[in-house]
Amino acid sequence: MEMLEQKIKNKTAEIGVIGLGYVGLPLCLQFTKKGFDVLGIDIKKERVKLVNQGKSYIEDADQQGIKEAVESGKLSATWDYDKIQECDVIQICVPTPVNVNKEPNTIYITDTTREISKRLRKEQLIILKSTTFPETTEKVILPILEKSGFKVGKDFYLAFSPERIDPGNKEYTIENTPVIVGGVTKKCTHLAKLLYISVMQRVIAVSSSGIAEMTKLLENTFRNVNIALVNELALLCERMKIDIWEVIDAASTKPFGFMPFYPGPGVGGHCISIDPYYLSWKAREYDFHTSFIELSAKVNENMPYFVVDKVIQALSENNVCPSGARVLILGVAFKRDVNDQRDSPALKVMGILKQRVKEVIYNDPYIDKIKGTRERSISLTESLLKKVDCVLITTDHRVYDYNWIVRNAKLVVDTRNATKWIKKKNVVRIGC
Ligand SMILES: NC(=O)c1ccc[n+]([C@@H]2O[C@H](COP(=O)([O-])OP(=O)(O)OC[C@H]3O[C@@H](n4cnc5c(N)ncnc54)[C@H](O)[C@@H]3O)[C@@H](O)[C@H]2O)c1
Repeated sequence: MEMLEQKIKNKTAEIGVIGLGYVGLPLCLQFTKKGFDVLGIDIKKERVKLVNQGKSYIEDADQQGIKEAVESGKLSATWDYDKIQECDVIQICVPTPVNVNKEPNTIYITDTTREISKRLRKEQLIILKSTTFPETTEKVILPILEKSGFKVGKDFYLAFSPERIDPGNKEYTIENTPVIVGGVTKKCTHLAKLLYISVMQRVIAVSSSGIAEMTKLLENTFRNVNIALVNELALLCERMKIDIWEVIDAASTKPFGFMPFYPGPGVGGHCISIDPYYLSWKAREYDFHTSFIELSAKVNENMPYFVVDKVIQALSENNVCPSGARVLILGVAFKRDVNDQRDSPALKVMGILKQRVKEVIYNDPYIDKIKGTRERSISLTESLLKKVDCVLITTDHRVYDYNWIVRNAKLVVDTRNATKWIKKKNVVRIGC
């Protein structure tokens, strides 16, 4: 039998990807582009059907690429876990959310691992890509896999390789964003590195899966803490009547030692707003309190309330009684130019605002419907802009014509500095 290493080198290894979402689908495509055959597995039958029809539902997995991969037979999808026995490599890309108490919910990765364990065979490489707390690979995944009777590093291989994709980012793609790999044994690391170097530009091997897990959490906590810092400074700047946006632009001219982060209505998405909680939860097991994470959560989670207060104040100053006001929210995706509404701060703002004004409606060119509600995106017209009492910019999608919006709206509250170049009296920006 051809050994796994040889199969990876020859690109004859069959690649499995479990979880065909924002991470999994672009990953499938990257492997097919580089010549591998890929099998995608998802419990959502609708997604499996779409993939097999050659249709993409994720921005970063281009439609044409998926179509060609399916037509050429390089990509197929299934919900049948028995098929993973055919895969030489299995990458786990399932969600890692938090529960209402902000504690890690690892059920998706443990369920998936149990399914793999039942069917594990010799010479398979399992790679966890989902973001999670340090020790997950060795203390959660490994024991489940070893229930199969096989030994890691000898019969099968196990590694952690955090996904670093930034949806919507055209400069840094899945191919040119360096990949981190950390295996449970040296052979595991070696095989995982070999795999990714055949499809990505740069791979960095670290000495353990724990280092790789912590690396991802450092990256996301770093963002979370720095966003909190500028959010706090934005509140101070408001009080001092200093424009935080101009301050950040000026500080950004320093060619070293500074990296710009921007204020906004809060943090969201399936990473920045969740991952730090994985770390703070794990830290408690070691009698350790991650004070920076707690502090940044406090600041960032206050932002939607601050934004709502800002709208109420702006309405009052415009002689509109808030309880009778209609507010149009622009952008409910958690960040610009994506269709991801998970944990979006705009949705939080919307919920709080509804208790304070008469009506809240929204427009988002990327999001037709808000999940779990009846809310639908309303088409953005001149008459709508003229009709509402306030337009609240929560996500600065590039397709919006901000000049036209400001020209036609009575009042604009801008949480993203999308109206940076527009100096009009009807615009109120946070942090100024
Ligand atoms: N979205 C991002 O920008 C991003 C970036 C880096 C890392 N991550 C991490 O990657 C992981 C996946 O995130 P995502 O955004 O792709 O999630 P997603 O929700 O877009 O996709 C996950 C997919 O997994 C499927 N799934 C759930 N349970 C399953 C099971 N038992 N078997 C098979 N399929 C199952 C779901 O149906 C869904 O299609 C998370 O840990 C996340 O933190 C996400």
